[in-house]
Order: sequence, then C-alpha cells, then structure tokens
Amino acid sequence: MKIDIVSVFPEYFEVLNLSLMGKAQSKGLLEITAHNLRDWTHDVHHSVDDTPVGGGAGMVMKPEVWAECLDELLNLPAPNEDDSPDELVFPTSESSDSPADDALDFSGIPNDETEEDDDSNAAAPVLIFPNPSAPLFTQRDATELSHAEHLLFSCGRYEGYDSRIPDYYRAQGIDVREYSIGDYVLNGGEVAVSVMLEAITRLMPGFMGNPDSIVEESYTGEGALLEHRQYTKPAVWRGIAVPDVLLSGDHGKVDRFRRDEALTRTNEIRPDLIEALDCKALDKADRKT
Ligand code: ADE
Repeated sequence: MKIDIVSVFPEYFEVLNLSLMGKAQSKGLLEITAHNLRDWTHDVHHSVDDTPVGGGAGMVMKPEVWAECLDELLNLPAPNEDDSPDELVFPTSESSDSPADDALDFSGIPNDETEEDDDSNAAAPVLIFPNPSAPLFTQRDATELSHAEHLLFSCGRYEGYDSRIPDYYRAQGIDVREYSIGDYVLNGGEVAVSVMLEAITRLMPGFMGNPDSIVEESYTGEGALLEHRQYTKPAVWRGIAVPDVLLSGDHGKVDRFRRDEALTRTNEIRPDLIEALDCKALDKADRKT
C-alpha cells in the first residue's frame, strides 16, 4: 500500500519507521512518504493559513496551497483559472447530483483518457481529511481502507482547512473521506492520521506476525463486542487468581466464559454496541446472558 501524508509537521511521522509499521515498510508492504505542505508555498513566510471569512477566532488553512499540493500528488493538472466560473457553487452531501456539480467541471481538467503518464494505471488514492466535525472513524472504515492501494492523508492545523478543498476534489471524482477519531479536539490532524493509519495497516494481510491476533479483537466482525479480559501466568499474582475455568483445559467452557464476559462487559461499558448487534450474531446461550 502506498501512503502519502501532507502536514506542516512531517517530522511527526518519523515514528512510523518504528515497530511493526517500520517492519512493514522494510518488507515492502507499505511505502510511506510524509510531505511538507510548506513546500508548495511561494511567499517568503511560507504561509498556509488565513483569517476565517465571516470572522471568528483562529486561522483557517488556505485552499490555494493545498490545491497545488494535492493536484500534484493526485496527478491532476491544475485547472485553467481563466476558464473557471467566477463563483462556484459547491454541492452539499445531500445534493451530490445537483446541477451545481456541473459548475465544478472545470474545462481545464482533462478526463482519464487524455492523461498519459507512467501512473495512468494506478488506482487513484483515497483522499482522507481528519476533522473533529466529521463522522466517526470506525473499525469498519479501517477494514475497508485496508484493501486500498493508495491513501493520501491531509493533516489540517489551526481551526481546520477551507471546506471547499474536500468539496473540490470530490467534484473531480476523487474518493474523499473526512473522519473524526473521537469526540474531542486535537491541535491538528497528525495524531488522528497516526491513529487511523495504525488501525488500517495492521489489518493488511502480512502485516501482523500472527494473523489470528486480529480475528478475535474488539470491534471486529458482524457481532462486534468488546473483548473479554486477558490473563497470563502466574495463576495467582499478589493474591489475585485468574478465573478457574481458564485453567480447566475445557475449550468449550473457556469459549463460553469468554463470550459471556464479552457480552456482559459490552452491555456495561458500551450498551450502544449491544443495541447495534445483529440478532443473528447471538446464539441461544448469548440470549440468556
Ligand atoms: N483534528 C482535531 N481533532 C480531531 C479529531 N478528534 N479527529 C480527527 N481530526 C481532528
């Protein structure tokens, strides 16, 4: 999988050379490049942000710099600004096939058939923007994206990025995703991208030494539950014993115990996951729990 990350702090991603992510790169499973957004600026201050239109605190990341960078990484020629309408009406998520789509069809942008370069057979990257105001990133998204050939992450900073940036690339036919990693606000998208990347890449075939370790995890599969509690040796530690059943050697009983614990813990900690469970994922004994 090819992964490009754009940030004003590309050094942030040096940690990706460590541990399993580093190994996956050495094995050729992952090819990660972190780019500095400021490389696409032209002014002496290398500025990437400006004040919000309509007022308000903080700064917003400018669309022009992002567009130069993303056009290049997505292999899209920049539109001829003279041919573009003065005012663009961008589609909302509810009106993706509205006439406004036509307004975004810049005449300067060639279609696929006219594009001739070495990458013409490569899948277009999925373009991902971390954003605290976006839908929540879930294990389902991680699983889906673990099959992608190429991901391009764009890390916002300050108060975020100009919302026309994702709108514009969506209108060019790019698969654009905006995700929040949780109901809290971080200083920028870098940590959110690291979280998403780890969740995605560890699901790739060949990434984990032991592929079984991802099969029984929390949030995995149809009947997604929190995982049962884990123990290792010794059987008694500081006076606390592991549950007897786990030492019984009876695999059926161990499985039932773990499943019951998963159901009980999920019900206590994340009742929303129980409500979302597909009834077909529950067996007779589950229903008693
Ligand atoms: N940027 C800042 N906070 C974020 C969050 N919670 N998720 C994704 N991106 C963010």
